[in-house]
Amino acid sequence: MEKVKKNNRVVYVGVNDRAVDLFEGMYVVPNGVSYNSYIIFGGKTAVMDTVDHRFSAEWLANIKKAVFAADSRPDYLVVSHMEPDHSGSIAEFMRIFPDVKIVGNSKTFVMLAEYFPELDAEKTPERFIAVKDGDTLDLGDGELKFIFAPMVHWPEVMVEFDTADGTLYSADGFGKFGALDCDEPWDDEARRYYIGIVGKYGAQVQALFKKLAGLEIKTIRPLHGPVLSDDLGHYLGLYDKWSSYTPESDGVMIAYTSVYGHTKKAAAALKNKLDAAGTHCEIFDLARADRAECVARAFKYGKLVLATTTYNGEVFPAMREFIAWLVERNYQNRKVALIENGTWAPVAAKAMQTMLEKCKGIEYVAEPIKIRAAADAETDAALDALVTALA
Ligand code: FEO
Repeated sequence: MEKVKKNNRVVYVGVNDRAVDLFEGMYVVPNGVSYNSYIIFGGKTAVMDTVDHRFSAEWLANIKKAVFAADSRPDYLVVSHMEPDHSGSIAEFMRIFPDVKIVGNSKTFVMLAEYFPELDAEKTPERFIAVKDGDTLDLGDGELKFIFAPMVHWPEVMVEFDTADGTLYSADGFGKFGALDCDEPWDDEARRYYIGIVGKYGAQVQALFKKLAGLEIKTIRPLHGPVLSDDLGHYLGLYDKWSSYTPESDGVMIAYTSVYGHTKKAAAALKNKLDAAGTHCEIFDLARADRAECVARAFKYGKLVLATTTYNGEVFPAMREFIAWLVERNYQNRKVALIENGTWAPVAAKAMQTMLEKCKGIEYVAEPIKIRAAADAETDAALDALVTALA
């Protein structure tokens, strides 16, 4: 991460959260998460977003240190996104800097008053600057251009382009799980973050890309994860794939559940056969692996094999929940194969197909493979045929 240095035009004042157990109440984050916030010292001084309320004190100390070093005071607080991981410290900030103007849009201000009734733009309009899509704010040495990004990932979201240095303040976009002091590759945790949290809104991300076309973006400063400045084409390319539901890889993901190991054995046999055929493949036990990671991997690959047991005349719960997460995130345009197991009345394949009817562009590469209790020679032959179909 960039270091805070005296006289930097842009100073990082965000925080690392390594205490959170579940981000957004549902995502495990073994390496924590960062809540990013920046100060731009142009002729005017703009604070870019706040942090989760649990870190208000640390964040405010960072701000005081930065403005003291710059011999400045904040003029503006830009609110890109009202989700509480970024808005949670607004009220505390305004108690310390009551003359600062809050910069947002009409949707921002409705949410702001809901969270903080004392910050009501209708009652004290002099404390607020309402911007419209495409508006600019003069910072003295450049302008902040506001570009609305509705549903990336809430309706009020906007991103800002700083004309002075070509920085895009991208809100949740280009964010990543993991605190800034952890050393891990960007792609996997950014994919898990994006697919999990914004995956449903690919069309809105694509719409934002159209609005950003023509801007000479040199740096991306998201609200989570590292600043991106090198090889921007890599990050933009991945975002284009994720938001257009295009696979990154032609490989296969096998996702299975197994009660007594028989379905697992068949799934593992398929993995071995795919490996032997030279087809890249990853296999996940849905009852034990992190679900968000499994969902992100399903989006990574162009082909998905679902293997599960019949359970209460339906699908085994971990598989049902996995497919529900895929559907909720607009999983589409993939090749799929199904393996079902059932000792007396296997119906899981039909149930999975019914769930996947909500997904566009699903192509079944073969008839479902039916296992009666334990895989046999017939299963083995069907798996061989499936390997050929998946190749
Ligand atoms: Fe990081 Fe949608 O908040």
